[in-house]
Amino acid sequence: MNTESNPLENIEDWEDDLLRRYPESKDKKNEKDFRDYENSDRAAGVRAFYKLNHQYQCYDFVSEKEAKFLQFKQRKMSLWDAVDFLNTLVDDSDPDIELDQLQHLLQTSEAIRADGHPDWFVLTGFLHDMGKVLCLFGEPQWAVVGDTFPVGCSFSKKIVHSEYFDLNPDSSNPDFNTKYGIYSENCGLDQVKMSWGHDEYLYQILKDYLPQEALYMIRYHSFYAQHKEHAYDHLMNATDHKMFEWVKKFNPYDLYSKAPVPPDSKALRPYYEDLVSKYLPDTLNF
Ligand SMILES: [Fe+2]
Ligand SMILES: [Fe+2]
Repeated sequence: MNTESNPLENIEDWEDDLLRRYPESKDKKNEKDFRDYENSDRAAGVRAFYKLNHQYQCYDFVSEKEAKFLQFKQRKMSLWDAVDFLNTLVDDSDPDIELDQLQHLLQTSEAIRADGHPDWFVLTGFLHDMGKVLCLFGEPQWAVVGDTFPVGCSFSKKIVHSEYFDLNPDSSNPDFNTKYGIYSENCGLDQVKMSWGHDEYLYQILKDYLPQEALYMIRYHSFYAQHKEHAYDHLMNATDHKMFEWVKKFNPYDLYSKAPVPPDSKALRPYYEDLVSKYLPDTLNF
């Protein structure tokens, strides 16, 4: 893999960095996650990753990716074929991370199920990162994972590593570099183009099949500048505010459900087969 365009050794390094930024509780620091992190190669990889992400995720870039991927002509697959496909994205360079993609999805969904939430919420946990198949379609890491943010208006200082937005061409474009840019006050996020990645892609694939709450969780789960930092209230409408309660409810299951004991994917498969077939068609267009 070309490390210049893919500076993360493992795409999970981005999520580990989220744990550092948003620890589960202030007193409960996870030794493994924080040990010497700032000076580590992984921290440097995460910085290099955000530099690329913030430099290249401009309005035109997002439009190009939408034009390409929202035709859904990459592959026709059943959800289960997509799970197997996604699972080829395992990293063997990092001994700390033994969990594959399927295990992260199952840990998230099983934690949701254990708390007695409705089945569509469990399914959302199981599906939420399927958009990462973009990596397998040859997309660089910075166009698949990482915090997402609106394009078409000024970049908030509350976005992680916002200093790198100086490199983004939209920062010097007067159409895009004001508070509202091309948008209007409280226009609603559905009008707002987000930086391109696995969230928006999966939302577009599943938008006809899941309840609105689930779709918000999928579409905005990496929008930390809003669901953690409230940096874009001025673009949100009343529906967004109501639905972001679900995005916030989802977030801890995504971030903090990583347990050292991997879920028994074989034993769980029948339950998830029923759940998937309740909501999704036999094949999906990716
Ligand atoms: Fe994700
Ligand atoms: Fe996730």
